[in-house]
Amino acid sequence: MRIFLLGSTGRTGGHILDVALARGHGVTAFVRSPGKLTARAGLTIVAGDPKDPQALAEALPGHDAVLSALGAPPREALRPSTLMTDFARSTVRAMQEAGVQRLGIVSAAVLFPEEGLFYAFFRWLLQHHARDLQRMEDEVTHTRLGWTIARPPRLVSSTEDTCRVATGALPPGGRVASFRATATFLVDAIERGRHLREIVGLAR
Ligand SMILES: NC(=O)c1ccc[n+]([C@@H]2O[C@H](COP(=O)([O-])OP(=O)(O)OC[C@H]3O[C@@H](n4cnc5c(N)ncnc54)[C@H](OP(=O)(O)O)[C@@H]3O)[C@@H](O)[C@H]2O)c1
Repeated sequence: MRIFLLGSTGRTGGHILDVALARGHGVTAFVRSPGKLTARAGLTIVAGDPKDPQALAEALPGHDAVLSALGAPPREALRPSTLMTDFARSTVRAMQEAGVQRLGIVSAAVLFPEEGLFYAFFRWLLQHHARDLQRMEDEVTHTRLGWTIARPPRLVSSTEDTCRVATGALPPGGRVASFRATATFLVDAIERGRHLREIVGLAR
């Protein structure tokens, strides 16, 4: 497949890049900071702003799917922001213009209505980010695209590349998942045509 990747310089995105290239997919990494990536077989690097729908639409034709692991810097996540919504709006608009149908995107488990103090604390701490993520998801789910939304809880570095998966819910008691497992889930989903128009909870 030819995969168009947003957020490839980040932690989840870096694993998506590794997994996709290792499986023989061609990957176009659309990044604002191309100097962070090194040339590799199968990788095309395109410099641009992921909030610019025109730049995205020009780079998108010929791809089978878009994977997005864009994330907000911590300072942005703790105050009111529309960054994630803006990313999603430009991505969706560009995909519609370029005729690319398949989208896999990372959101967060904070949007699940889990009970208990642990989850309530994180919902309070991340309330602004959660609002932005909810609007991001709305931008995606209100389209006719073939989307898959992954909602992991706190992400940790680990070599584990599998996780528990639940449609429309957080796997019971889920508190962490690995960057690698989240990346692998999304590559699997687009390769196998699974979890179409589903919000999926992930957890170790
Ligand atoms: N980390 C967690 O514990 C966690 C838990 C649950 C869900 N998530 C979700 O998972 C996703 C990925 O998280 P992550 O921790 O892997 O992200 P990350 O390592 O912080 O990477 C963020 C990516 O977004 C890009 N980016 C950020 N601001 C940008 C801007 N203004 N313009 C262009 N690119 C920008 C960064 O590019 P540069 O390299 O150029 O800065 C980088 O590629 C996020 O949506 C997050 O909400 C994360």
